[in-house]
Amino acid sequence: MVDRNASSATTEDTPNPKPDGNAPSESDLTSDSLARKVQESLSLGKKHKFWETQPVGQFKDLGDNSLPEGPIEDPTPLSEVKQEPYKLPNLYEWITCDMDSEEMCAEVYNLLTNNYVEDDENMFRFNYSKEFLRWALHPPGYFRSWHIGVRVISSKKLVAFITGVPSRIRVRNDVVTMAEINFLCVHKKLRSKRLAPVMIKEVTRRVHLENIWQAAYTAGVVLPTPISSCQYWHRSLNPKKLIDVGFSRLGARMTMSRTIKLYKLPESTVTPGFRKMELHDVPAVTRLLRDYLSKFIVAPDLDENDVEHWLLPKENVVNSYLVESPETRDITDFCSFYTLPSTILGNQNYSTLKAAYSYYNVSTKTPLLQLMNDALIVARQNDYDVFNALDVMLNESFLKELKFGPGDGKLHYYLYNYRLRNPLRQSELGLVLL
Ligand SMILES: CC(C)(COP(=O)(O)OP(=O)(O)OC[C@H]1O[C@@H](n2cnc3c(N)ncnc32)[C@H](O)[C@@H]1OP(=O)(O)O)[C@@H](O)C(=O)NCCC(=O)NCCS
Repeated sequence: MVDRNASSATTEDTPNPKPDGNAPSESDLTSDSLARKVQESLSLGKKHKFWETQPVGQFKDLGDNSLPEGPIEDPTPLSEVKQEPYKLPNLYEWITCDMDSEEMCAEVYNLLTNNYVEDDENMFRFNYSKEFLRWALHPPGYFRSWHIGVRVISSKKLVAFITGVPSRIRVRNDVVTMAEINFLCVHKKLRSKRLAPVMIKEVTRRVHLENIWQAAYTAGVVLPTPISSCQYWHRSLNPKKLIDVGFSRLGARMTMSRTIKLYKLPESTVTPGFRKMELHDVPAVTRLLRDYLSKFIVAPDLDENDVEHWLLPKENVVNSYLVESPETRDITDFCSFYTLPSTILGNQNYSTLKAAYSYYNVSTKTPLLQLMNDALIVARQNDYDVFNALDVMLNESFLKELKFGPGDGKLHYYLYNYRLRNPLRQSELGLVLL
């Protein structure tokens, strides 16, 4: 999550983006891509003691076109699904987390705030808000049993967490009910003790108990085997702060005042009829999104209930805007972003980076570039420091022109128990996980 470029933008890895301003030099790019290739080949040769036992695409099968696409293993009868939880090391116990409980939600929030994803240089750590966690974990049809914690028996301290939520994901022509797995976190003091595989097996067991056999997840690390590997791009909205906290660097031959000017945005949006989405827009937005997402190979299959939950604006969680034609009153375009701040570690002057993450955007009449520029403008008006976007869907068409720069890592997408013959290009992927 850190911006790799000087005063333009960087590539990010996991979560935190560090965008900054200037384009990287040719030689930077070469050594960077070389380093990445070396890293990737190392990780391809790496043993994955756990993941090699799981029904996921394996590295050795890459390029084997004789293997069919679709589920790797058939469902087993529910009576054969293990009824009791996996065994934890002696001092620990499983809990199901009731995120409606203020107390439980605060415990989860504290675990994640102190132990969740950091950038490679440990300068920033994701700081999902409580309202965000509740929203992310309570979509239509959610299962409380999929919100799983591990406590120390004696002290009751929460030390690990993993979640799933149900979702319908279309892969080519097949709509598959899956679990979206997220928020895997093990307390820093309990790392490298093989607790993560137990957490993953336990959530898988609970997903199976609901007769669901596939899952989707993302990670900054390379595991067997990504269906696609994407990159975060970062657009500075508050370049001075981003540079001050080390998220971005001042570009060569750039001054602070030139950098501020470079990223300056108009005071107000330019598209006539651009406004916040409201409840009565749900049917029109659902139609727009379904039509748009049908173009991608892997995408969520959203109905009106899903759209109401995931896209109706929620303060400090998700922002959605649309264009209502002043002449016809038709809803022609849509854009959205979610709010995921990062804690700034060890800075005297600032404690939080306020980041907007591009979510789903659809343009039919307003050029995508103009629509996204309006999204940047409203994000800036709302005091976000940076606007992040993955290079999925049609995002590549606006990133460079709107002064996004690549971050310093990759985000890999995975499916559990579902094989795709070949990895997808980022532009073939229509899915954003939180
Ligand atoms: C991710 C995390 C839970 C892994 O725990 P850990 O203590 O480092 O690792 P463990 O010894 O328990 O387990 C290692 C196994 O988990 C796998 N693993 C590590 N990170 C993983 C991830 N993000 N998703 C799935 N599997 C992961 C490893 O590949 C390894 O399996 P392998 O031998 O088959 O390769 C922990 O490092 C953590 O909480 N990190 C900060 C938050 C984070 O990055 N969460 C993941 C967000 S995608």
